[in-house]
Amino acid sequence: MSVLPPFITSDMFTFSNVLMNMGNLLQYSPSYYLNYLARWPELCCATVAPNGHMIGYICGKAEGLFHSFHGHIIILTVFPPCSLLRLASTLITHLKAVSDEP
Ligand SMILES: CC(C)(COP(=O)(O)OP(=O)(O)OC[C@H]1O[C@@H](n2cnc3c(N)ncnc32)[C@H](O)[C@@H]1OP(=O)(O)O)[C@@H](O)C(=O)NCCC(=O)NCCS
Repeated sequence: MSVLPPFITSDMFTFSNVLMNMGNLLQYSPSYYLNYLARWPELCCATVAPNGHMIGYICGKAEGLFHSFHGHIIILTVFPPCSLLRLASTLITHLKAVSDEP
């Protein structure tokens, strides 16, 4: 079981366990995340284990106008030991639901 709190700026200092051993720890700079957090905070969400550790997150952006408005996944990462637990599916479902809101 996990919960889906918003992804907030201070999470940038705690998600190293999510990225560890994935070879992309240095791929994204804080400014990369801040760009999406500042512009589309409602499309940035984490998933947290009962022990409080972040085990996945998603960052998205919104594109299009009126009927073509839709969400777009920018970053989706799940802590490798927690893979295939449908955490990514849950995060994507959440992003889709938020994107579909008027
Ligand atoms: C890819 C990733 C997000 C999947 O997370 P996850 O929580 O294990 O995925 P889920 O358990 O929700 O699985 C959803 C579906 O994707 C499939 N899947 C999961 N990882 C997969 C992989 N590496 N290759 C192919 N299919 C995969 C699952 O089998 C499942 O399929 P189904 O719906 O037909 O049953 C995770 O492995 C990850 O963070 N990878 C590294 C970062 C990355 O590649 N991110 C995506 C680009 S930004």
